[in-house]
Amino acid sequence: MGNELESLNSISSMENLKKKAFDCEWCSLRKGCLGVVFGEGDANTDLMFVGEAPGRSEDEQRRPFVGAAGQLLDKILTAADIDREEIYITNTVKCRPQENRFPQPEEQKACFPWLVRQVQLIEPKIIVCLGSLATKTILGPESKVTKMRGEVFRRKGINIIPTFHPAALLRDSRKKYPVWEDIQMIRDKYRALT
Ligand code: URA
Repeated sequence: MGNELESLNSISSMENLKKKAFDCEWCSLRKGCLGVVFGEGDANTDLMFVGEAPGRSEDEQRRPFVGAAGQLLDKILTAADIDREEIYITNTVKCRPQENRFPQPEEQKACFPWLVRQVQLIEPKIIVCLGSLATKTILGPESKVTKMRGEVFRRKGINIIPTFHPAALLRDSRKKYPVWEDIQMIRDKYRALT
């Protein structure tokens, strides 16, 4: 990823980074989706959320987390008194894999420089990894969200906190309470910063 990340180093605003991503050809996903779902929210925030990859609704609207999982995430954020506009939300992979399949390792790798540059520009104090792919991508391939959720891992001065993906909560309601506990802890940590 050295050369790709280097090619993004001169881009110093999120808007310009987003524009550059529209023409990305680092993997073949862009050819099979409607558009790049780059991310949205406050690029000066201390609190960033990273999911997996866009689904159909996200691809259609070019916005992260607007489908069923996103609506649940919105409810969780509202319950925790976190305004979606005060955080930044993105995905590990920015283009929708067809049929919502899991992104391939080469697609994950190809997309990683975009996430790295987003983190460099935002300089968040807290990154919440939603689900397995974000957790493994940010904390390393051996990481397991089931074991690590709700714990804080310090990397390069950033607090990284994995929790279950909201789509997992839709499949298994027993995961709701652990996520609720995690999100309250995240909220308290975030509020204590300001
Ligand atoms: N799931 C994700 O991981 N990201 C989205 O944007 C939507 C659903």
